[in-house]
Amino acid sequence: MVASRQTLEDEYGARFSGSRRLHERARETLVDGLTHDSRRALPFPIYVERAAGSRKWDVDGNELVDWVSGHGALLLGHAHPVVAEATRKQLERSTHYGASHETEVRWAEMICELVPSAEAVRFTSSGTEASLLALRIARAATGKDRIVKFGGHFHGWHDYTIRGRGISTDRVPGVPAAVDETVTILQPETEEVALFLRDHEDVAAIVVEPSGASWGATPLRPGFLADLRRITGQRGVLLIFDEVVTGFRWAPGGIQELTGVIPDLTCLAKILAGGLPGGAVAGRSDLMATLEFGRALDQPSRKIPHYGTFNANPLSAAAGVACLELVADGEPQARAERTASDLRRRLNDCLRDTELPGFVYGQSSVFHIVLGSGTAADSEAADSGRYDPAALLSASSTPIATAFSQAMLLSGAHLFSMGGLASAIHTEEDVEITVEAFSRALQKTEGLISSGVS
Ligand SMILES: Cc1ncc(COP(=O)(O)O)c(C=O)c1O
Repeated sequence: MVASRQTLEDEYGARFSGSRRLHERARETLVDGLTHDSRRALPFPIYVERAAGSRKWDVDGNELVDWVSGHGALLLGHAHPVVAEATRKQLERSTHYGASHETEVRWAEMICELVPSAEAVRFTSSGTEASLLALRIARAATGKDRIVKFGGHFHGWHDYTIRGRGISTDRVPGVPAAVDETVTILQPETEEVALFLRDHEDVAAIVVEPSGASWGATPLRPGFLADLRRITGQRGVLLIFDEVVTGFRWAPGGIQELTGVIPDLTCLAKILAGGLPGGAVAGRSDLMATLEFGRALDQPSRKIPHYGTFNANPLSAAAGVACLELVADGEPQARAERTASDLRRRLNDCLRDTELPGFVYGQSSVFHIVLGSGTAADSEAADSGRYDPAALLSASSTPIATAFSQAMLLSGAHLFSMGGLASAIHTEEDVEITVEAFSRALQKTEGLISSGVS
């Protein structure tokens, strides 16, 4: 049955009344009642009480199939018994030794075993910090200031990369103009990059989400990464892959393993720490040497200072090692990929059956949903970087997306930004429930979708 936007909101308000009450309370102390901009949901976000495997339960007792997967961190699902046990054991031995420990060594060894570009590692506490540190290393190693990033690509919320995280490249309040002047945002087109590097000798590095912006919401054209590697190599510019989402997910060694395109530096986080906070920069040992005491590129005064109370804390290290050991053979990634591919196919079938405008696409174990424009046949164009990137990037911030996300929650599935990331423990039943939820949500929002309100 088609629901009006008001009816949908009323139904949402009634079903998630405990969440509404908590959100009202949250607004008293938490800015906007939130802790992360991506968790904003209208009319209010859901509040979760517990999660296990591929499911979560909100404070009203609603069971949901979880496609948020810890913002992509949970390739093994919630509370995987092996990861949970390793974390529990570590908890009893302390969460912070204020000293070095063997687990951090093992953790770094595993990164070097799995990630092709990793000759040396430095841990951080988040992906944002990893990207911040990678840029500092690149600048210190080259003696140049400019960073090139791509429109829509997200590298955490620090000053250097927050501009251009979506379609807009407007200045971000609080970021100094002097910082903005050192960062150039280009489109991921070979010719554009080649011309820019030809005309600018001050570029230290190019940083890229190797899946394309926003975990593959706007996939890159085939061959673009190889082009980047060639062009940067010719110009003495460093290449940084931000594999915070794709690392250990696209393959145990990330997109660099799959494509054979090896960056100079790699940013890691999310799956790296098995569902706990953690990040790392890994890369060429001559570049990482900028962090070394005493022999930073033979100029001791150029050592990069780097601190962080919770870097490689024993709890995250224990969870990270347990997780990486489980994902090292590629089997969990293959399972998650089969699930996502099945889901993408079946959701596109739903759209074909209803003849509503929209399509579902995505690489590896992720899926992205566009509603209100295009047809299921467009998923191939989207996947090969031939669909309008602006349309793909904005698909998660339209009124259709707001209403559809509400309708999906009412039907038992929690999407992440009009899409999701499969884990290795999502089941056929999860897919079945999600396909049914999708079809009910399409019915509820049919009026909006067919009018293409965007
Ligand atoms: C590609 C990418 N880089 C960096 C980050 C920042 O990581 P964190 O949220 O751990 O700071 C994210 C977070 O979603 C990301 O998707």
